[in-house]
Amino acid sequence: AESTFKLTYATMFNPPEELHHKFEAALAQVRANLGKEHAMIIDGQDVYADEKFEDRNPANTDQVLGIFQKGNAGHAQRALAAARKAFPMWSRMKWQDRVALVRKAADLIDQRIYEMGVVVAMEVGKNRMEALGDVAETADLFRYACDRMEASNGFITEMGRDPLVGFESTNLSVLRPYGVWVVISPFNFPCALTGGPTAAALVTGNTVVIKPATDTPWTSRLIAECLRDAGIPDGVFNYVTGPGSTLGQALIDSPEVDGITFTGSYDVGMKIFRDFAQGRWVRPTILELGGKNPAIVSRNADLEDAAVGIVRSAFGLQGQKCSACSRVYIEEPVYDQLVQRLVELTEKLTIGDPTDRKVYLGPVVNRSSYKDYQQFCEELSQHGKILTGGRVLTEGEYAKGYFCTPTLVVDLPAEHHLWKQEMFVPITTIAAVRNLEEAMQRANDVQYGLTAGFYGSPEEAEWFFDHIQAGVTYANRPQGATTGAWPGYQPFGGWKGSGSSGKNAGGVHYLQLYMHEQIQTRVR
Ligand code: ALA
Repeated sequence: AESTFKLTYATMFNPPEELHHKFEAALAQVRANLGKEHAMIIDGQDVYADEKFEDRNPANTDQVLGIFQKGNAGHAQRALAAARKAFPMWSRMKWQDRVALVRKAADLIDQRIYEMGVVVAMEVGKNRMEALGDVAETADLFRYACDRMEASNGFITEMGRDPLVGFESTNLSVLRPYGVWVVISPFNFPCALTGGPTAAALVTGNTVVIKPATDTPWTSRLIAECLRDAGIPDGVFNYVTGPGSTLGQALIDSPEVDGITFTGSYDVGMKIFRDFAQGRWVRPTILELGGKNPAIVSRNADLEDAAVGIVRSAFGLQGQKCSACSRVYIEEPVYDQLVQRLVELTEKLTIGDPTDRKVYLGPVVNRSSYKDYQQFCEELSQHGKILTGGRVLTEGEYAKGYFCTPTLVVDLPAEHHLWKQEMFVPITTIAAVRNLEEAMQRANDVQYGLTAGFYGSPEEAEWFFDHIQAGVTYANRPQGATTGAWPGYQPFGGWKGSGSSGKNAGGVHYLQLYMHEQIQTRVR
């Protein structure tokens, strides 16, 4: 295979020229293959459904990227049956052998990074570097899962020997896989949030059914191909596509499922949680839900770092990250200066076809998000003041896509519901606060607790960490106020309404969520 350097967090912010050449070569290749039909994968076989659906490019809705299968309840049953059949073999395989296969899949993802990056950019509207970052993060999530298996000796731990009545027993703690795991992934990190939970489930010995978002079936198909090409046996993973309301619901309602990882909105996540709880017994449900992530800026902050970090986090992927910075609280003495800088930087952001290297903001993902954006802007213009943005672009190169301008809003009353509701479009609201206590009180006064950012003195930062209710927190970080977590560095997950597991993905405690414990006591 073609040699490729490893894309890292550092190269994402300072990409070498070679990266752009490779991306453009891949772009030409992918463009030559648009409009093809793609199958589901069940028990290692390509499976076609009677009904199909189109995957269109949100930057140009005339462009059909591919035709995908509209899987139904019957396909859900078949995929679960295949996963069930494969479980005894896969779970009893030596964990070192599973690690080797998952590492091989990570290498294949690396080898296809440019092709997959182009597909991510075209399917979701993610800009070039963020699209490549999504793929690189996926390979790193695979490797990190393998690293944790190794560092933990496959989660087999010798416990103390208990001296009882005249003889000793040896005690072993063994974490064992639950069984059949369902991964329901979102559109916004179509690679990492499909691949990450899948790798964790697989390496720990579960078998998997993957159900991607209907906006992003192609990216997940490519991950499934990497798993297949790595030599992971038939049925160990399965890939089905189709609507959440039918195919997804059939998976959730099935007694054949032993655990679910869902990443998506709070409302859908809570419905899944309730529906899944109707089953035969309590089963693990890993929910990664929304955010309403604040940045707090002290009068002692480096305002340039704050401005750069906030704009990146507010508008990367058009604000459609659960980690997006959607609220900014600024101490009064520096409010005017920082707001002016935020507006300047926001107005410099380039908007257009996300595969173009000059572009920072692509389109929002679909018509529904496009409508949401317009409705929120209408409401915000009535109750607050839009400083920049607030409109959609419809002329010329923008005519066929869902292009929205990055939007900053001030003067929105503190009790307005849009301070609390996740919008998931490129809109950020800003308020002046008298002091950091007021900022903290408002920052925490939401149902979510995913990410949060702070700019100020080191002593204030310690106070921030101690008081903020969030799972991923950053101080004085220009790369992103609330976004840009990377496996092994910033394990990702939320508190409160942002997530159910309390242990972050890409971290030291994550794999344990995919296993239950068995204590083995042996006497003599
Ligand atoms: N890893 C993604 C971020 O931090 C979710 O923005």
